[in-house]
Amino acid sequence: MGEPIKLRVSQIEKSFPGVKALNKIDFSVKKGTVHVLCGENGAGKSTLMKIINGVYQPDAGEIYLDGKLVKISSPLQARQLGISMIFQELNYVAEMSVEENLFLGRLPVNRLGKVNWKEVTRQTLQLLQAEQLPYDPKTLLKDLTVSDIQMLEIMKAVSNQAELIIMDEPTSAITQKEVDRLFAKIRELKARGVSIIYISHKLDEIFQIADEITVFRDGTVVDSRPKEELDIETVISLMVGGYVPEGEGGDRGGNSPSRWTISQRGISRCQLLCTERRNHWFRGADGSGTDRGDAIPVWSRSVNLRDDPD
Ligand SMILES: Nc1ncnc2c1ncn2[C@@H]1O[C@H](COP(=O)(O)OP(=O)(O)O)[C@@H](O)[C@H]1O
Ligand SMILES: [Mg+2]
Repeated sequence: MGEPIKLRVSQIEKSFPGVKALNKIDFSVKKGTVHVLCGENGAGKSTLMKIINGVYQPDAGEIYLDGKLVKISSPLQARQLGISMIFQELNYVAEMSVEENLFLGRLPVNRLGKVNWKEVTRQTLQLLQAEQLPYDPKTLLKDLTVSDIQMLEIMKAVSNQAELIIMDEPTSAITQKEVDRLFAKIRELKARGVSIIYISHKLDEIFQIADEITVFRDGTVVDSRPKEELDIETVISLMVGGYVPEGEGGDRGGNSPSRWTISQRGISRCQLLCTERRNHWFRGADGSGTDRGDAIPVWSRSVNLRDDPD
């Protein structure tokens, strides 16, 4: 792809007490593309994103936006540079209305310092219509779903003229229909030239939406490629550093899945992949850390077993 580079980070390092969270990270995102970051829990994805969003300062390394060296010292500054982050845990005040949330920190005031609520409502309505979102500006956030609030956060980013939007595990708490709506919105943003960094460990989803994929492991980038050069098995293998197929699995009729892959690093970090969507189960080999209790049913193509204890 010949698109210009929107964001480039070079040799970024970040330590927390006792942990090297990021070690010499090089990474870049092209304009108008979706760049997926994946990697196991603790690999360093969120830390890098918080650095790009000005929440953390790196210990070393540089950030370039449109080829220019920048220092991003706060989320406010990130916003001024056209960077917005939609957080994994959407933090909002439940009693706040759609319009209050949208104009938080930038409410239009008149000469006497009074908020011009008519103007707030008018501009909110205009934006809601432009983004085809069917909410009333006065609706309270507590009356909306996670997906609705996510859409509002994206709308807010758009209204801030964001050119780079970071989404950290945006589909962890929404339904399949809402995922479709989010993906349609992401495609629309791309078409407008917005770059998206999309963090997810849902591998089937990643391959639907990504242009490029970067895999993190233990604070380093292990690979970064166009989607076409990767497949699910390779990504899992890169994430865990070579997978260990162990244990047994099958469908309810007693047949083995035609293909299955398990990476085992203890029950909390186990990923399993089945070629069939439904009715598969898995039990790790003795002593594998996944052999506690009964076989675990697998309801999706890729699951985090910790998230699926039934
Ligand atoms: N604020 C923090 N204080 C201390 N350690 C942290 C902090 N944030 C992240 N870490 C540690 O840094 C490493 C990378 O974490 P993180 O970036 O959240 O990974 P990921 O998003 O890939 O799951 C982990 O070992 C994590 O425990
Ligand atoms: Mg994270």
